Amino acid sequence: MGLVIRGGTVVNAGERFEADVKVEGRTVSGIGSNLPKTSADTEIDAAGRYVLPGFIDPHVHMELPFMGMVSIDDFESGTASGIAGGTTSIIDFCIPAPGTSMLDALKVWRERSAKATADYSYHMAITSWGENTADEMRAVVRDHGITSFKVFMAYKGAIMVDDHALYHVMKVAAETGAVVTVHAENGDVVWNLQRELLAKGLTGPEYHPVSRPSAIEGEATERALTMARLHGTTAYIVHMTCKESVHALERAKLGGQQCYGETCPQYLLLDDRVFHKPDFGGSAYVMSPPIRPLHLGHHDALWSGLSNGMLDSIGTDHCPFTHQQKLAGASDFTKIPNGAAGIEDRLAILYTHGVVGGRFSLERLVELGATAPARIFGLEKKGTVAVGMDADLVIFDPNAKSVRSAKTHFSRADRSIFEGFEVRGRVDRTIVGGRVAFENGKLMAERGSGRFIARKPTHFARHPEVRS
Ligand code: URP
Ligand code: ZN
Ligand code: ZN
Repeated sequence: MGLVIRGGTVVNAGERFEADVKVEGRTVSGIGSNLPKTSADTEIDAAGRYVLPGFIDPHVHMELPFMGMVSIDDFESGTASGIAGGTTSIIDFCIPAPGTSMLDALKVWRERSAKATADYSYHMAITSWGENTADEMRAVVRDHGITSFKVFMAYKGAIMVDDHALYHVMKVAAETGAVVTVHAENGDVVWNLQRELLAKGLTGPEYHPVSRPSAIEGEATERALTMARLHGTTAYIVHMTCKESVHALERAKLGGQQCYGETCPQYLLLDDRVFHKPDFGGSAYVMSPPIRPLHLGHHDALWSGLSNGMLDSIGTDHCPFTHQQKLAGASDFTKIPNGAAGIEDRLAILYTHGVVGGRFSLERLVELGATAPARIFGLEKKGTVAVGMDADLVIFDPNAKSVRSAKTHFSRADRSIFEGFEVRGRVDRTIVGGRVAFENGKLMAERGSGRFIARKPTHFARHPEVRS
């Protein structure tokens, strides 16, 4: 019992063509004209629609314990929300508490993610450096199919690592063939700015961006890339927001370094006026690094990075907290849990503002949201519509119009940072592992049907500058 998707336009990174797509079991088994259908097959009419590879979100946090709260979407609701928005695979961050075992944290993440409705993997965070850390990193790659790590250069006093840890993480990652993903902000500077603002009685959410200026994101990006270059490590800078960090990445790339950059829709489309919304409404937008001011060139640097190839992927950093949870920081912005929802909005928002807005082609959007994350992170069977690949597909109607809203999204988040955004294009159907999981606004995603995807290491050291 399979599917035949008839008469759509298949769009991959760098190509588009009209074809039928046949799915058998979990796999794409045929692409061509007038593909035959058996009586057991379901036929889907895709005329006038695009057939895209399922999007991959390389940056999400489901049920993340963070800043005294747990983010409100769990692996079931968060992946379902993704499916409704055309995302069929996620990479979450497994984050052990500092000083605790990565392998113990992995057990916890495995339990949590067993209810996922879409396929998933993890980046493993290193939150401290101890005598077992290098061996655990090696075991994570060798025995568990996790080939990307994460370091936070911010969140001092919690999960931030210092340069000593950063140095060693980069070194061991290069030896194991893993990528290091980096939250790049100078956490010591943030900590000091926060204290100074609070001491002056400046406690509202509008001071969150003041405490995290773009210069300190640029500095940390440069430092992380330098550490990576020393060891020949492949680095991937997550959620880039500003021209300083884009320029640091650009310098590294032009110098021949293997490195990647990710941004997220909120940094392209919102600006820091959102923090002034009344009734503590600005708290919904509190995330780190912060949404930047208009007219300083940050938004343009990100858009051009996406179109000229300096930036490589678009994630969402989906990490929603409810208004009630955000109220923990009602009298101190440093206590507002950082994060917002976005996994359901990415495709429609970027189709509208990226493709219809004339910034880049749909092929490039497919590359940024599916093909590149699959290639960088080793999801070998995902990110392209082709025979033999996983049957994770999106049937996208380019002509439909809708309005994004927390009232209609499937996420448990009670706010949408894109509330009221009018978008062009709609996900008509999402097929996950060969089964229709979302159709005409109805979610049929199955709890627990997502699988953990084990990956192989490919990013071994390239031209290290130090030999130790
Ligand atoms: O504010 C954010 N981004 N929250 C999630 C954790 C992180 O830093 O990615
Ligand atoms: Zn981060
Ligand atoms: Zn994040």
